[in-house]
Amino acid sequence: MKAISLDIQHAVYFAEKQYIANESAAVEAIKDVNTGRAAGNDFLGWVKLPSETDPGLLSKINATADRLKEKCDYVVCIGIGGSYLGAKAVISALSNNFADFINNPEPKHAKVLYAGQNIGEEYTAELQDFLKDKKFGIIVISKSGTTTEPAIAFRLLKAQLEEQVGKEAAKEIIVAITDEKKGALRTLATQEGYETYVIPDNVGGRFSVLTPVGLLPIAVAGFDITKLIAGAAEMEKDTTEPGGDNIAETYARVRNALYQGGKKIEILANFNPKLHYFAEWWKQLYGESEGKDGKGIFPAAVDFTTDLHSMGQWIQDGERTIFETVISVKEPLLHKYIPTDDQNLDGLNFLGGKKIDDVNKMAELGTMLAHVDGGVPNIKIEINKLDEYTLGALIYFFEKACGISGYMLGVNPFNQPGVEAYKKNMFALLGKPGYEKETADIQTRLGK
Ligand code: PA5
Repeated sequence: MKAISLDIQHAVYFAEKQYIANESAAVEAIKDVNTGRAAGNDFLGWVKLPSETDPGLLSKINATADRLKEKCDYVVCIGIGGSYLGAKAVISALSNNFADFINNPEPKHAKVLYAGQNIGEEYTAELQDFLKDKKFGIIVISKSGTTTEPAIAFRLLKAQLEEQVGKEAAKEIIVAITDEKKGALRTLATQEGYETYVIPDNVGGRFSVLTPVGLLPIAVAGFDITKLIAGAAEMEKDTTEPGGDNIAETYARVRNALYQGGKKIEILANFNPKLHYFAEWWKQLYGESEGKDGKGIFPAAVDFTTDLHSMGQWIQDGERTIFETVISVKEPLLHKYIPTDDQNLDGLNFLGGKKIDDVNKMAELGTMLAHVDGGVPNIKIEINKLDEYTLGALIYFFEKACGISGYMLGVNPFNQPGVEAYKKNMFALLGKPGYEKETADIQTRLGK
């Protein structure tokens, strides 16, 4: 049985003409991804990553993870965007909902914390305060090696760690993941003698979860990266050839058809709170890949049924420019039955004896029918369960569909020129050396 299946029957009839018309565009887009003949072809290293991952690399990552787990109770993963979202997505999806409050988990793993994904002063101060009497290590991740947010966090946490354990001991529990040659982080790591891993040149940040960027933090958190890669490799095999069985092609094709038909917003919905950060990863993958040249579906995310009590009204009745893609988990790993009560004061006995998931699944079905009736096309992605293999397959499915979808849209899915605009202004405002002209211009603009 396949780890993932796709159901577009409640979406396709909203844009049937467009769906039929874009068949050949989808096939051409798959060829673009497979052969590297289109723009962005220097960033297609992720396409064959699962099947070509060296088992020796996985063993090395597991050995590093074992050392960190042995020496640290907490490992701070420093990175932003594609340099942390994939790891956080997988770790959240596989962890106990209350992992933060559980001590001495078995098998031994380190708790993964995050830094450098914001520039919040309170966040940083509170994190440092929390770590002051803890055994912690650091994985610092930056492909460019020059990103400001993680650089600030690393400067502070490196100093704190060296103060707490001494410079020599700190070296054993700091790992850097960055470009093979370029960037300040590479220079620093070489100078300090840290263990390092390389982010391949031809893999962009948001496509890097199946490289050491995602694999090392996931292994540190106690999860099986070999199974993750195996699931991705199965999906790689299944999504290479064009045709009706290629679910990445079908997803890319239907979402482009809906976009052409006026559905400009896609909400990724889950009915399992463990998938919240998976949606954050997906938002970055699709937002940064497709939102350019004045085009692109706006990716948003909701947790159901939670957000049916906040966003449900808008989705059901607001402007009809949205469609939804639901990730449905077929089988929960744990079961809980609703008891029958003699007095039935709460009137819930009609649910007595049912599993909580039975109720959840009816909420899911009822929501789909209501939203479709309300003019919201529904794409369903069913995954067997929340385990490493299935998540590996899901990651690769979304990556492949993203590449295909971006090419169908007519953009280069692998660049992100728009991300530079805020940085340029921020550096100008902060007076970064090399930005003197921008500083003068921005001060004039602000009337200073
Ligand atoms: O997908 C991307 O390329 C970006 O989101 C990057 O991952 C993010 O900007 C962080 O960049 P870096 O890893 O160079 O610090």
